[in-house]
Amino acid sequence: MRSLIDITDFTTKELEELIELACDIIANPEKYSESCKGKKLATLFFEPSTRTRLSFEAAMYELGGNVIGFSEANSSSAAKGESVADTAKTISCYADIIAMRHPKEGAPLVAANNATIPVINAGDGGHCHPTQTLADLLTIYREKGGFNNLTVGFCGDLKFGRTVHSLINALSRYSGIKVVLISPEELKLPSYIKKDTLKKNNIPYVQTTDLEEVIGDLDILYMTRVQRERFFNEEDYLRLKDSYILEPSKLKNAKSDLSIMHPLPRVNEISVAIDSDPRACYFKQVLNGKFMRMALILKLLEEAKR
Ligand code: NCD
Repeated sequence: MRSLIDITDFTTKELEELIELACDIIANPEKYSESCKGKKLATLFFEPSTRTRLSFEAAMYELGGNVIGFSEANSSSAAKGESVADTAKTISCYADIIAMRHPKEGAPLVAANNATIPVINAGDGGHCHPTQTLADLLTIYREKGGFNNLTVGFCGDLKFGRTVHSLINALSRYSGIKVVLISPEELKLPSYIKKDTLKKNNIPYVQTTDLEEVIGDLDILYMTRVQRERFFNEEDYLRLKDSYILEPSKLKNAKSDLSIMHPLPRVNEISVAIDSDPRACYFKQVLNGKFMRMALILKLLEEAKR
């Protein structure tokens, strides 16, 4: 059974086909309005979410399908001690496809190994978030026309930011990619990603704490929130939370065609004054996420038939 747990579960060719499908959905929504008639998506969210869960639900409704699920662990049998494996086996009796978010790294993989229907990882702890990467890739494709020869800056919480980890994994398969890692010392990109992804794919990267020093080099600036829920103590969070605040004055050396991205939710990292700058792409990412999730649901349900 085909699932999406890590972005590299799909080849670059498959990701490009998904982008093509999403673009066709954007151009001809009516063509797809009954594609999932009679099908059910189960959204199993053991962690808070606005965009991911609701965009999955909107995606399934726009495909003519239905949605069941829960939006907090406390309202499911997890609160009684049920294992992820048993939950996955149970939901396989009710639904055709699962989107799961869980605070534990690897939980969606356990679900996929036990379900008899496709499982989509909608974010697992501080590990991966492949469907945010689908949203990010469509945004980059629409803004830049492709994925080669881009200098991409990731700024903020690179340690716990799962959207950063997945996007780095995805972009490392293209040529001419340069990565600029901007974070406080304590929130640097985990070394396993540097070793297994950046070094392995010969992607040049630099690490810095200073955003303004590097902003002029970037084609894409991917800002992130400091991930409060992953900290062991509140004091560290309070000390680090406002490490980077992107304000209009900080863009003075930035390229005129810089794309400013953020997976959202934003806390303080990007001043609202940036929202009206034509380089701001973060609300475009939100919309693109819905179309890519539509394409993904179609692909996985189609493969499940075989
Ligand atoms: C992200 C996540 O859940 O990892 N949100 C999202 O799905 N767009 C980013 C975040 O919470 O900071």
